[in-house]
Amino acid sequence: MNLTTLDHPLAAHLMAGLRDEATEPAVFRRLSRTLATLLVLEATKGIQTKRVAVQTPLASVEQSRLGQGLAVVPILRAGLGLLEAALDMFPDVAVGYVGLERDHESAVASSYYCKLPSLAGKLTLCCDPMLATGGSASQALTILKKNGATDLVMVCVVAAPEGVAVLQANHPDVPIIAAALDVCLNDHKYIVPGLGDYGDRLFGTL
Ligand code: PRP
Ligand code: URA
Repeated sequence: MNLTTLDHPLAAHLMAGLRDEATEPAVFRRLSRTLATLLVLEATKGIQTKRVAVQTPLASVEQSRLGQGLAVVPILRAGLGLLEAALDMFPDVAVGYVGLERDHESAVASSYYCKLPSLAGKLTLCCDPMLATGGSASQALTILKKNGATDLVMVCVVAAPEGVAVLQANHPDVPIIAAALDVCLNDHKYIVPGLGDYGDRLFGTL
């Protein structure tokens, strides 16, 4: 399976807070941002590096520096909850946005916005906290590939087996990083146990 889940007590602790229905949006946003730090670190493990000579006060040493550009593309709106951590860690990151919204009845996502930087040669993180049916993520990855992305990672908070299967079928070249792999989808295509509607909980639109 092309899926890596975080294996760290802090990630589990943060997930407990995000899942808790009593967690208010202000705390939800903070937990989301901290968890995103762990996710982005894992998702960028394979970024290309280059060897450079660095002069310390004592000696010259050969050291690795980042050797590949990074792009982060949150899927609006909930993906915004994962953006700030990437900006903090990688200030030179290029940022794009893909707006997708699921229809409440059919759960099929449709696109309403797209603004992307140049993606050629960059490690591109497509960020969407909830991988449910996989429809949104699959559409977004197709858009990113059409716009030149060749080195992609899908970054999620909670993945459902159904969504993972869809991405593996449609985008087998794209690794998935998630904080948790949950059990299934319910009849309304929400992830169980999940954490509810991420966008609503992040922005207080319950
Ligand atoms: C949610 C979530 C994902 C999508 C996942 O977005 O943020 O984008 O659903 O579901 P899928 O895997 O079945 O496509 P939503 O459409 O609710 O929009 P929002 O982020 O604006 O709340
Ligand atoms: N979108 C969400 O925000 N939550 C789910 O469980 C499924 C889709």
